Amino acid sequence: MNAKTSASAGNTWRDLPAAQQPEYPDPEALRAVIADLESYPPLVFAGECDQLRARMAAVARGEAFLLQGGDCAEAFDAVSADQIRNKLKTLLQMGAVLTYAASVPVVKVGRIAGQYSKPRSKPTETRDGVTLPVYRGDSVNGFDFTPESRIPDPQRLKRMYHASASTLNLVRAFTTGGYADLRQVHAWNQDFVRSSPSGQRYEQLAREIDQALNFMHACGADPEEFKTVEFYASHEALLLDYESALTRVDSRTGRLYDVSAHMVWIGERTRQLDGAHIEFASKIRNPVGIKLGPSTTAEEALRYIERLDPEREPGRLTFIVRMGADKIRDRLPELVEKVTASGAVVAWVTDPMHGNTFEAASGHKTRRFDDVLDEVKGFFEVHKALGTHPGGIHVELTGDDVTECVGGGDEIFVDDLHQRYETACDPRLNRSQSLDLAFLVAEMYRDQ
Ligand code: PEP
Ligand code: CO
Repeated sequence: MNAKTSASAGNTWRDLPAAQQPEYPDPEALRAVIADLESYPPLVFAGECDQLRARMAAVARGEAFLLQGGDCAEAFDAVSADQIRNKLKTLLQMGAVLTYAASVPVVKVGRIAGQYSKPRSKPTETRDGVTLPVYRGDSVNGFDFTPESRIPDPQRLKRMYHASASTLNLVRAFTTGGYADLRQVHAWNQDFVRSSPSGQRYEQLAREIDQALNFMHACGADPEEFKTVEFYASHEALLLDYESALTRVDSRTGRLYDVSAHMVWIGERTRQLDGAHIEFASKIRNPVGIKLGPSTTAEEALRYIERLDPEREPGRLTFIVRMGADKIRDRLPELVEKVTASGAVVAWVTDPMHGNTFEAASGHKTRRFDDVLDEVKGFFEVHKALGTHPGGIHVELTGDDVTECVGGGDEIFVDDLHQRYETACDPRLNRSQSLDLAFLVAEMYRDQ
């Protein structure tokens, strides 16, 4: 990898308008931080990004299913062994259920180890008559509602790198060091089915998985694949100074890779076709996702393909659709039809979270589990009707027992929201709601 070459080739976005970037009071300090970041080692290897692209190609072709999930916003003070383990555990449990029910490989990708930057709808926040710059994620400014804390500080970009590195280190240890053994993961799921009031609905599926594992055991099969898990890291590529400082030329291929994560996506608020984010994404070889909100036209979708996947390479481009439960059945069909007719093979993934947020009377930003589920259902229905592949789900979740979304099998009510409302940004499914969702999606997949 050659940092110098990357600094120029990964910087073509600088000539274009870049939405949602912090305004740093001291540009000189930012430049010094960028120079430091450019000298840091990569967080992931280019070869791993290629491997994920190959896995995503299977998703795009209908041979695998993507499970992408994690926090809306990671926080520096939440980089702890317990929180990382719980999140991972939840994702692995969901992955095991989906793998069995769908009988296809499940590609597991965390919103983790880099998800520190948030696009915001408004530049300021007002409380009790005081207006301050909005919180943009720990990589930019502080969550505390004080003028000092809300000033963007470029040193936070370095903290983002180090927080990502320590998170990824632990994730790699958990996923390859025996903790993620499939039999162990299944035992956790059995526990959930036994102990949660809603879990009993899934007894049948859990029993089938148990029988399948016992059968393999009786045959003497003890595959290596049971002992470790392939797990990838992803985040929104929002702060282009950070992303381009971590963009390097791969010595094997001579191509550029954003080595801050295996996969990055461009959000709904920064996907302007003539903007800096799409330009940046067009230069890197990582698999990339684009969030598509309800206003997306088929014309735009086709232009994303031209810009980001000119070689028409399955696995390169993922459309992460987040329309809202009330719009998905109406808006998605035309996009899927026209993209399919163009001959492009993209992965279609549903994000059933971001189109279903509302403010509860208590003032908490929340989502209804039933709306989340209904958007996933709509997504599956559209693909079934068109004969295309519902490629995966992208969700905001945590492994902890928070009370941020309402509903679910172990029902959370609006009046419960205040009990454990801990998110730094959007409301996340808690552990039990996440597992509920996995079992329900598994049933949907079987009926497909
Ligand atoms: C997100 O994924 O946290 C997010 C902000 O999503 P979107 O860009 O779809 O609004
Ligand atoms: Co979010």
